[in-house]
Amino acid sequence: MKSFKEFIKDNFIVGLSPMDGITDEPFRLVQTKIAKPDVTFTEFASAEGLTRGGVKLYDILLYKTEERPIIGQLFGKDPEGFYKAALVLCHLGFDGVDVNMGCPAKTVTQNGSGAALINQPELASKIIKSVQKAVSDWLENKITIKDIDLNLKTLKVIERNLKYTGLKSDREKIIPTISVKTRLGVDKPTVESWFPHLLSHDLDFITLHGRTLKQGYSGIADWDNIALAVKLAKNTKTLIWGNGDIQSKSQAIEMAQKYGVNGVLIGRAAMGNPWVFTNYTALPQERFSAMLLHTQTYSDVFPKRCFDSLRKHFLLYTSGLTNAKHLRADLIRLKSVDELLSLECEFLNC
Ligand SMILES: Cc1cc2nc3c(=O)[nH]c(=O)nc-3n(C[C@H](O)[C@H](O)[C@H](O)COP(=O)(O)O)c2cc1C
Repeated sequence: MKSFKEFIKDNFIVGLSPMDGITDEPFRLVQTKIAKPDVTFTEFASAEGLTRGGVKLYDILLYKTEERPIIGQLFGKDPEGFYKAALVLCHLGFDGVDVNMGCPAKTVTQNGSGAALINQPELASKIIKSVQKAVSDWLENKITIKDIDLNLKTLKVIERNLKYTGLKSDREKIIPTISVKTRLGVDKPTVESWFPHLLSHDLDFITLHGRTLKQGYSGIADWDNIALAVKLAKNTKTLIWGNGDIQSKSQAIEMAQKYGVNGVLIGRAAMGNPWVFTNYTALPQERFSAMLLHTQTYSDVFPKRCFDSLRKHFLLYTSGLTNAKHLRADLIRLKSVDELLSLECEFLNC
């Protein structure tokens, strides 16, 4: 079978965009079961945190082999941290390492990470080169995670993740893709200067969200500037994936034809609607079943966590359903899967 790195060269990709607090392991498992995207990403994880004892962050990197191809996304500003964290992602069997150069959150950009890297091209360059070096050192068996001073707790949690995934230690090495996810610019679009810089690094692909850092999530994604990036990448080996405001698989295909991108990532439209990767409109009963599956999966993966982080999903699964006002009020207070089962009977009159 072709590796993901080879597959993307001659196949149009419609993937699930990384979303912090949303595309966690339960979300991705449900997405995989209902309508598997061509690729999924983890939520972003701090490169420095992963390698300096942040064992809780390893929950972000949990995945099952059926979710593959899956890419681990890292953020941060320390090239050394990226070297080590990329090595960890290779060890965990990820199909790709993606560097976040697009997050607009103040907590991330104030620190010089995420979309703030667009204004620090030299640092961005060092980070990409560190990831490339980690991947090639790992592929050439020059280094393992035992050589990078991870503490014992971190080594143990890495073992836990491997066991969860079900990867064998004698497996064949996967050659991971190396990519960047970024925005059009900081205050205004600067694709004409930012892209040639990124493209000089021979990345496998770059995902471009058609907004600037300053815009955050406001306004409409500017696909003309995404088309400019496609033009600049024309005689390079780097593929361009577009992102921003795509509502369906058919729209993703339309955008590819119109703007020439090699792939599209869909983010917000997948929340509460895993069918976005098909061209199917789910019935109310199916949406309820998806919500049940999500809740059950969440309590299986994270048995000690309460349902607070599921509330936003509940509201989205039930948005647009008629007579769902009382149901939504009950969902906000939900504490167990059994309660949800009885709500299902009540709501669907079964
Ligand atoms: C709640 C939320 C969290 C996000 N977290 C990440 C993230 O961790 N990494 C990343 O690269 N982008 C992140 N994004 C950006 C999305 O991946 C995507 O680029 C953006 O939402 C535009 O695509 P869409 O219009 O299809 O949602 C996040 C977006 C949202 C709404």
